Amino acid sequence: MSLYLKKHPWLVWLTFVVLASGLSMAIVWAQKATTAASPEPLANVKPSGPHPVIIKPGPATPRLDTGLKDKAGNAVTVACNTCHASTTPDVQRNTSIDLFQAHRGLQYQHGAVTCLSCHNASNYDTLHLADGRSVAFPDVMTLCSQCHGTARRDYDHGSHGGMNGHWDLTKGGRIRNNCINCHDPHHPEFPLVQPVLPPRDRISVPKAEGSH
Ligand code: HEC
Ligand code: HEC
Ligand code: HEC
Ligand code: HEC
Repeated sequence: MSLYLKKHPWLVWLTFVVLASGLSMAIVWAQKATTAASPEPLANVKPSGPHPVIIKPGPATPRLDTGLKDKAGNAVTVACNTCHASTTPDVQRNTSIDLFQAHRGLQYQHGAVTCLSCHNASNYDTLHLADGRSVAFPDVMTLCSQCHGTARRDYDHGSHGGMNGHWDLTKGGRIRNNCINCHDPHHPEFPLVQPVLPPRDRISVPKAEGSH
């Protein structure tokens, strides 16, 4: 074998090149596999310049208010999964009008989207993406973006969602709103605005003849 290799030294190089390229392909694949395993951390500081762009995180994990008060007078709240560990999830539900055992009075209007398109039927203390990966409430934007790609694209380009701070990131940082700082996840469309009379313009409109 070694004699054979001495005769053909290029074979050593060939083996080396094949092994090295195989290894680098394996690394690329492994990196892809690990990034796919966790949803994109959107509600995070993105260092895309000398100064950061901070996206405000979504809400903390909600808890249900029992309406009771403890001895110190604080509201007694329970985790969602306290009840939902033992309820049968209603995967068809896409309305709130017939909720009578719990969550009475919840206002809901979001297309024909079912409650459990967002809430995670296997753990109500989280949300979930279409492929089943769970999303913590503070990362809710990942979930919105999955269905509203156009709005998300506009958001990333800066024409949707507003911002505070600097447009030029070499001058200073920027703070961006979370989708649900503006849109209620349960009825995201804004109510129509009623037209009213324009304000009286006393500066740019010339006074009518004879008026004082
Ligand atoms: C006191 C018990 C209780 C708690 C705590 C509770 N739920 Fe519920 N929830 C229910 C019941 C019961 C229903 C079914 C309602 C009905 O049929 O009228 C329900 C229904 C729902 C549904 C509709 C889908 C389904 O499975 O029917 C969602 C979504 C939901 N709850 C989310 C939550 C979230 C989020 C929290 C935490 C903020 C929470 N729940 C806390 C009892 C509870
Ligand atoms: C578009 C995704 C989405 C859908 C669809 C959705 N939710 Fe929610 N839900 C959320 C988010 C996000 C929060 C956390 C909001 C917050 O804390 O400000 C939440 C909070 C809640 C809470 C706790 C806070 C509260 O408002 O009482 C309950 C209960 C709840 N949802 C029930 C439901 C029910 C019932 C339905 C279906 C009729 C439903 N949700 C549909 C995203 C959704
Ligand atoms: C499972 C897919 C899905 C998810 C997740 C989802 N939406 Fe929606 N959304 C819809 C559908 C479907 C409609 C109804 C579209 C229509 O009527 O044309 C809608 C409607 C809307 C509208 C009103 C659109 C209009 O034409 O005026 C807004 C705003 C909105 N969603 C924001 C959000 C936000 C914010 C979130 C995250 C909390 C979210 N959506 C999560 C599917 C989704
Ligand atoms: C600064 C407040 C604000 C933020 C943040 C915001 N929106 Fe909006 N969004 C609006 C307003 C205002 C409208 C227009 C009124 C309407 O259609 O209800 C709108 C419209 C929409 C619409 C319907 C029209 C369209 O462009 O398709 C969708 C869907 C939507 N937003 C989704 C999102 C999502 C997803 C996010 C997060 C990535 C987001 N919005 C963040 C204020 C906001």
